[in-house]
Amino acid sequence: MATRILFDGDPGIDDAMALFFGLLHPELDFVGITTVFGNTTVEFATRNTLQILEAANRTDVPVVMGASHPLLKPLAPRWGRIHGADGLGNQSHLYPTPTTRPLDVAAATFIVETVMANPGEVTLVPVGRMTNLALALRLEPRIVENVKEVVVMGGAAFVPGNASPVAEANIREDAHASNIVFSAGWPLVMVGLDVTMKVPMTPAYINSIAEIGRPETDFIAKIAPFYQQAYAQFHNSDGTIYCHDAYALAYILNPGLFGITRVPVYVETEGLCAGFTVPDTRNRWESDSVEIGICTSVDADGVLDLYRDTLKG
Ligand code: RIB
Ligand code: CA
Repeated sequence: MATRILFDGDPGIDDAMALFFGLLHPELDFVGITTVFGNTTVEFATRNTLQILEAANRTDVPVVMGASHPLLKPLAPRWGRIHGADGLGNQSHLYPTPTTRPLDVAAATFIVETVMANPGEVTLVPVGRMTNLALALRLEPRIVENVKEVVVMGGAAFVPGNASPVAEANIREDAHASNIVFSAGWPLVMVGLDVTMKVPMTPAYINSIAEIGRPETDFIAKIAPFYQQAYAQFHNSDGTIYCHDAYALAYILNPGLFGITRVPVYVETEGLCAGFTVPDTRNRWESDSVEIGICTSVDADGVLDLYRDTLKG
């Protein structure tokens, strides 16, 4: 039976690449997509999601617009540089304005109602800021016992961050929400920079995706170059990119491709280290940190083959 997933993201080029991958995989059943600020505004992220679903001919998947800013801190917009002003490498004008609309419901309410209506069945996949999930937890704490699993793209435990020396962007940009999500006590797996930065999509690999020649890969071929140029500029790469969000879905599809270190993790919320996902490797239970599974190793070729084979269909 397909895994029922509720995808919570901020498309976003790697979010879009993840969505096309997930929507094409027969073992994933999208019960909904909630959006959040992050790579772009929540309005653009929502519009992009609708555009992606139309391009993939999957307008059956409900979309809900979520948080426009962090729980406590003022919004510190950083969009534009990595994903373009529109979140899709400034290519969204190439596709028709979506004719579909997001549902008229709060994202937290949608998350709660979806989980509670399907006890033990829904895997939450937050691949943007954790704000919507934190609000859902506040609204109905019993979702903790009723989810199947929470697979987060975010965090950096034993490697440097990308938004600060120690913090990954999804965790740092709403560290208070991340702390709520990480300390909730639900079964949580972190697919963070510890593994996502070990799965490079080289220019040759991206070309091989573009050559597949279906609507989903044509879309990827249009948006990937902006992300490649950003990686070249800010990470000194040769156009190699890291498709973080897709790897969270790869974990759901084949956890055997990943090695897990299970330790308590504490999310720092303040100061220079805000957003640091601190692993307590001393194996002691202290403070309010909760044990989670941190992906620390990955079969990169296996993930890349899974991604491309799925897009080939
Ligand atoms: O740090 C990478 C994460 O931040 C990805 O989810 C990317 O889409 C951005 O949201
Ligand atoms: Ca994302």
